Amino acid sequence: MTFSSLGLSERSLKALDHAGFEAPTPIQARAIPPAMQGKDVIGCAATGTGKTAAFLLPVLERLAHGHKAHGPRALVLAPTRELALQIGEEAQRFGREHGVRCAVVIGGVGMHPQIEAFRAGVPLIIATPGRLNDHLDSGSARLDAVEVLVLDEADRMLDMGFKPQLDRILAKVKKPRQTLLFSATMAGEVAAFAGRHLHDPVRVEVARSGTTSERAHQQVYLVGQEEKLALLETLLAEDELTTLVFTRTKRRADRVAKGLARAGHKVAVIHADRSQGQRRAALEGFKDGTYRVLVATDIAARGIDVAEIGHVINFDLPHVAEDYVHRIGRTARAEASGRASSFAAPDEHGLLQGIEKLTRRSVERAAVPRHSEKFKSAAARGAMGQGQRPRQAGRDRNGRTAGATQARGKLLGSWKPRRRR
Ligand SMILES: Nc1ncnc2c1ncn2[C@@H]1O[C@H](COP(=O)(O)OP(=O)(O)OP(=O)(O)O)[C@@H](O)[C@H]1O
Ligand SMILES: [Mg+2]
Repeated sequence: MTFSSLGLSERSLKALDHAGFEAPTPIQARAIPPAMQGKDVIGCAATGTGKTAAFLLPVLERLAHGHKAHGPRALVLAPTRELALQIGEEAQRFGREHGVRCAVVIGGVGMHPQIEAFRAGVPLIIATPGRLNDHLDSGSARLDAVEVLVLDEADRMLDMGFKPQLDRILAKVKKPRQTLLFSATMAGEVAAFAGRHLHDPVRVEVARSGTTSERAHQQVYLVGQEEKLALLETLLAEDELTTLVFTRTKRRADRVAKGLARAGHKVAVIHADRSQGQRRAALEGFKDGTYRVLVATDIAARGIDVAEIGHVINFDLPHVAEDYVHRIGRTARAEASGRASSFAAPDEHGLLQGIEKLTRRSVERAAVPRHSEKFKSAAARGAMGQGQRPRQAGRDRNGRTAGATQARGKLLGSWKPRRRR
């Protein structure tokens, strides 16, 4: 199979050649032709298998031809700012040959350049729903010229968190239009949405929904909640892999990052309570090797493409099983392989079962290295840090008061999983 057999123009072929893409991935081979014909497509394929180009190439071909419109002709929606920026970079890379301009419309940065982009009639907008709604409210964005709507991470975009924002956007994007939905998981609202809003969609299923990345070596450690930090430090000492660590909450992400920094690791943290500048610095520093470890909430679970990530660690299991597939999909992308380790405390065993059911495979149990020197020393430090063995009355060795250490012990020690829905 070659890209030229998919009906792409010379310009696209040149851009692909430039990007070093030699042959289409299966999702590209099967989704590009119907999308080029203007059909609605629901595309499901594992993480890291090239879904972005599968929707961007047909969109750019369409924008390269056809009439000039007042306002965007194509709208790509993504669940996080980082993912929207990444898609924007890809769109620029492939759109340059066609002379198609694009703009990224996300929160956390100034409105003005985005208003200018709408005013200038930039044909391709890549947006997060929240900020796009702000522009609809203020009247700076009009969507009546949109011919193609793409929902990347479609199942996430259609879940409860985004539903109200998406409904308002959909009300402004007129039919007939082409709609493209892509994700590695297609649970929840996707089928109902497709029934209501898509026209005779072509379903391209390269991998069944929930299939995990092939080359990710998955293991799970059954640990006590209070052992997790020591286990994390022990795993980090085993190799030098660039490592992405997921926690369940923003506060836990901060705590874990602090713990690792104290242990001498180069670590950054990314979650929704950080400023856009901090988020960008964290991700860029992680990409360029300034930080070996990035501690994140599920904000970094979907779509993010960083070739160097060799190890994904679930410090906490995600409460929604689909998120597991996306999180571990941050490693072993394209041709690479990687490691995916999960920590499951007793109160998370039910979540583990849910993950194994969704992915249709059991995750290899790994022995907790309790007799390794690293683990023992880290555990001893952790125990003291959590106030179980205070050094002197009222203060631990870090000078914290009993109240502070108790709060920390509580945070890392006794969290109960809660389901999102
Ligand atoms: N045909 C190709 N040849 C070589 N590399 C490719 C090809 N298609 C995509 N890639 C590269 O593979 C990586 C993964 O692609 P992409 O981010 O589109 O995956 P995805 O399927 O969207 O994954 P996720 O489900 O995690 O979002 C990117 O770095 C991309 O540049
Ligand atoms: Mg993607």
